[in-house]
Formats: sequence, structure tokens, C-alpha cells
Amino acid sequence: MNILGIETSCDETSASIVRDGREVLSNVVATSLKEHQKFGGIIPEIASRRQLEYINIVTAKALEDAGLKISDIDAVAVTRNPGLIGSLLVGITFAHSMAYALKKPLIHVNHIHAHIYANYLVEKGSSRFRTIYKELELPAIGLVVSGGHSSLFNIKDFNTFGVIGQTRDDAAGEAYDKVARILNLGYPGGPVIDKLARSVGENELRFPKANLEGTHDFSFSGVKTAVLYHTQKYAGTEGYSINKVAAAFQESVISVLAEKSIKACLKRKSSTLLVGGGVAANSGLRERLNTLAAKSGILVSFPSMSLCMDNAAMVAGLAYAQKR
Ligand code: KG4
Ligand code: ZN
Repeated sequence: MNILGIETSCDETSASIVRDGREVLSNVVATSLKEHQKFGGIIPEIASRRQLEYINIVTAKALEDAGLKISDIDAVAVTRNPGLIGSLLVGITFAHSMAYALKKPLIHVNHIHAHIYANYLVEKGSSRFRTIYKELELPAIGLVVSGGHSSLFNIKDFNTFGVIGQTRDDAAGEAYDKVARILNLGYPGGPVIDKLARSVGENELRFPKANLEGTHDFSFSGVKTAVLYHTQKYAGTEGYSINKVAAAFQESVISVLAEKSIKACLKRKSSTLLVGGGVAANSGLRERLNTLAAKSGILVSFPSMSLCMDNAAMVAGLAYAQKR
């Protein structure tokens, strides 16, 4: 079954064709990111205008890359929520029209759940194709860390994602983006902070960690404010190091994410942890989770780097796996 996925929840316009919920035949992503950079964040009006301009082009390219004709598509899937309303509207209208014209089913998908599903996708022709469902068994705990969300889920099946914890203020990626703004590092902040943090060995600088004991919730606004005050006080003085600030900030965020995710697995007796979203690309988070999971006998999975960011393959994949 070939499902055409459409993703337009934010600044990426993506179309993808996934076979039988696993094999990514094509995954085309266009983005208006560059136009937003000078504002330090996404401008919804610009994002939705570009969605409208790109949607036909990325869909035609997805068919071409997959070597398929439009008549080879068996169903159309689209991100329904959450997201920027103007951007979502473009994808939803496009997908509805496509399904109607082709007389094929239309499947709605939740964007955050789709980030988790990215763990089940494999490249075209990959040998992992046959084994991956066996390796990553449900129920599992899911951690979604992106620019808009930081949530822990108890995933019973692909239709049942129970929220067990979430951020009480900023999302993890949002904290990265805001700290990058404080440090004048541009937008988005995650990749550059990750790179600076990697260059630091020993670090005497520490920022607070919000453990919120007894809950699976997160909070990242405190560490963000700590970075602001530290920068206001020490920037330009001797010994101030932007790399060390980045490393200390990253340590505060990733240690809490990693420790709380493992605790949730142990508490719920889950031996699988599925991670997804833009921050799942973070090298420090991957390393810490791999270490802690190995100690606790937990299998932790991350999507391939390109599938951590917003993409339509995760949408087409989850649409196949959901019960209709
Ligand atoms: O999932 P995504 O592409 O979009 C949303 O659904 O929000 O995530 C984007 C977020 C941005 O906040 C970006 O700074 C963050 O993911 N990000 C990272 C890294 N790469 C992207 N955060 C930390 N480390 C990274 N390597
Ligand atoms: Zn996302």
C-alpha cells in the first residue's frame, strides 16, 4: 500500500510516499526557514504563503523520486494538528482535494505522534525492513522533544498515546532557540548550541535543573532565565566563554530529559523508549540516553537524523499503522 503523506504544520512543506507503513520511497522537504531567520523565529503569515507556493512542487517531486504515478497512490495522509493554523490549512485543503479527486481514503494524523512513528521508518530497500517492528515492540514510552512540544507518552498502540508528562512552560527546542537568541547565535538554536557544547571538555559552569520530583513533567524556563542573567552579568568579562554557557545549558536540558525518560520507563515497566522531534537530533541527548538505557536494560531508539525534523514520511507511516 502506497500512502502519500503531506506535512505543512510549520515552516516545512513536505510530501512523501511510504510503502506499507515502513519503506520510505521518497521524502521531499522544502522550507521557508531562511526567510524567518532575520526575525529570530517563525512568522506564521510568511510560512503559510510559502506552503501554498511549495505544496504542488514537493508533491510532484515526491512522485517522481518514488518512480510512481498518481494512480499508484492508495491513500492520502495529512497532519491535522497541532501546528500553525494557516500552514495546516494549506496541507489539509490540498490533501482533501487530492483524496477526493483520486477517490481514495483520506487519513488525518497527529503531528506529535508522527514524530514517534519516525522510529519505524527505513530507507528504500533497507535490510532492517523486515525486523524493525519486532525490535521496537509496543507498549513503549515515547519522548517527543521539538520546537513546540516536550512530552512523555505511554504508547499502548499506534492509536493510543497517553500523555504522562509534559512541559509546564517552554518546549525543549524553544528553550534552545531562545537561549541562542540571548547568545546571538541565530535561529534555530539547537544545532549551533549542540556544536558549541561538544567543543567543551571540563566545565565548572552549572545552570539549574528542574527535576519536578514526583511528576513526569518538565520545565525549561528557569534555565533559560539563568542563561540570560549570567550573560547580562558576565558577557565581555574575562573568563566568560560562550561555549561553556552553551555546554552548561545543554547539560541542564539533556540530563533532565534523559533521566526523566528512563525513570518513566522503569516506573511503567517499559523496556522500549522511542524518541522523536527536532531535539532528538541532539548529540548530547543521544549519548546520554544510550548510556542510561544500556545500564537499565532499556532499548532506546532515535529516528535517522533527517527524520527527526518535520517531514511527511512520518505522517504517511503513522497513517498506515493507525486503525481506521
Ligand atoms: O520537530 P521540529 O523540526 O519542529 C517542530 O515540530 O517544532 O523541531 C525543531 C526544533 C527547533 O527548536 C530546533 O532548535 C531543535 O528542534 N533542534 C535541536 C537540534 N536540531 C534541531 N535542538 C537541540 N539539538 C539539536 N541538534
Ligand atoms: Zn515537529
